[in-house]
Amino acid sequence: MSEKRFQEVLAKIPYSVCVVTVGLGGLENGLTISWLSQVSFEPPMLAFSIDKQHYSAELVEDVPNFVVNLLAEDQLEIAGHFAKRSMTGDSKIEGVDYRTTETGLAILTDALAYYECDVVAQHEAGDHWIIIGEVTDAAILNDGAPLTSAQGLRYKK
Ligand SMILES: Cc1cc2nc3c(=O)[nH]c(=O)nc-3n(C[C@H](O)[C@H](O)[C@H](O)COP(=O)(O)O)c2cc1C
Repeated sequence: MSEKRFQEVLAKIPYSVCVVTVGLGGLENGLTISWLSQVSFEPPMLAFSIDKQHYSAELVEDVPNFVVNLLAEDQLEIAGHFAKRSMTGDSKIEGVDYRTTETGLAILTDALAYYECDVVAQHEAGDHWIIIGEVTDAAILNDGAPLTSAQGLRYKK
């Protein structure tokens, strides 16, 4: 199978679109992700996959926790904003409505829900890291349907 065909078939898998926020003390950042899944009931755990080359991947290596912000179906613009590539030391969070967790991570107030996680494991998966987090706090913030890859948003190389 050609690489192009392979990617087309993989693109049939549906995903929710989220913003993961990471970092502390002036090195806060957020990035749009879609490769996310619940991976345990007890304790509740989420895992996401991050490209080793992303600026945010460096931050994830250094911090003990992260927040997954589940975007609402009308938050395409926010998804686009956080999908922009950071310059080193650049933060995309300024200018977006947010509040902070007790540990200082950003919760996007217009998101549908958030899940605050402690990093419990990191595994190599080809050109990505799989980051596994135990959910320590979570809440529904707003009513509505989630933003999904079915709305034409795709994570491409
Ligand atoms: C719909 C969508 C889904 C994405 N999903 C992921 C993902 O699951 N993992 C990832 O590493 N990057 C994903 N990206 C790409 C990052 O958001 C993008 O490369 C971003 O520039 C990285 O931010 P940074 O430079 O601040 O680290 C996705 C982008 C879009 C538009």
